[in-house]
Amino acid sequence: MIRVITAQLPPYHPWLGQIHYFDSIESTNTQAKAMAINGAPHGTVLLANSQTGGRGRMGRSFQSPPDSGIYMSVILRPNCLAGQLMHLTCATATAAVEAISASTGFRPGIKWTNDLVAGKRKLGGILTELSASAKGQVDWVVVGIGINCTQEEADFHPDIQDIATSLHLCTEKTVDRAAVAAALIAALEKMDRTLPDANAFLPRYRADCITIGKEISILRGEEIRHGHALDVNDQGALLVQFSDGHREFVQSGEVSIRGMYGYV
Ligand code: BTN
Repeated sequence: MIRVITAQLPPYHPWLGQIHYFDSIESTNTQAKAMAINGAPHGTVLLANSQTGGRGRMGRSFQSPPDSGIYMSVILRPNCLAGQLMHLTCATATAAVEAISASTGFRPGIKWTNDLVAGKRKLGGILTELSASAKGQVDWVVVGIGINCTQEEADFHPDIQDIATSLHLCTEKTVDRAAVAAALIAALEKMDRTLPDANAFLPRYRADCITIGKEISILRGEEIRHGHALDVNDQGALLVQFSDGHREFVQSGEVSIRGMYGYV
């Protein structure tokens, strides 16, 4: 697998010699964090054929069966402050959309902040993790991307059968996982070259973000608030107009879009 992927990258690609492939691993993000703590260099790529404990945002799991998806994490060491990377998840999502589009011809949407979607279903997700010094200087970031590639609907666990999809289901074609993985590595390296500059990503993020313009609900702790999503700012925060008329930038919390993932 790894040779098939590297064969599709340019011979001078700066990350070529540091791509680690695992047949099965608990979580590429967890492993990448451990490797980052132990000094793994900028641009270390971890790719797995399956994960036994794939993780998503908000403590959720990410189903990662063998031979079915792309489960990738990359260690980056950008020379900037953590506060300059508020848009990192958005930048990664944009890179993933570009990679999927370039390698399959299918362009997914993005559900703020980190879900890759096709129609009303989830195609994949992004999990970014960061460590910084007490002064805020970034030590490392791990960007993790999971993309469902080859699954038929029946392959998904019954819990997510109604809300998940795969590139195969979207394109009705055989999906070349190695081609998608190579495109993803190329897109992430390109992202890295302009990273602290939000202008390099946010215009495309806004264009692909299906949340903007929708009726949404935001769950934070026990509280649910309803509103209308208006925009995403350069820090990746969602501008929401709440039912009582006031506007607020939301940086975290579970956002549901009316009509998606079972929210009616
Ligand atoms: C989400 O849906 O909330 C994010 C899912 C992120 C999954 C990817 S798969 C590769 C990397 N390793 C993990 O454990 N998670 C990310």
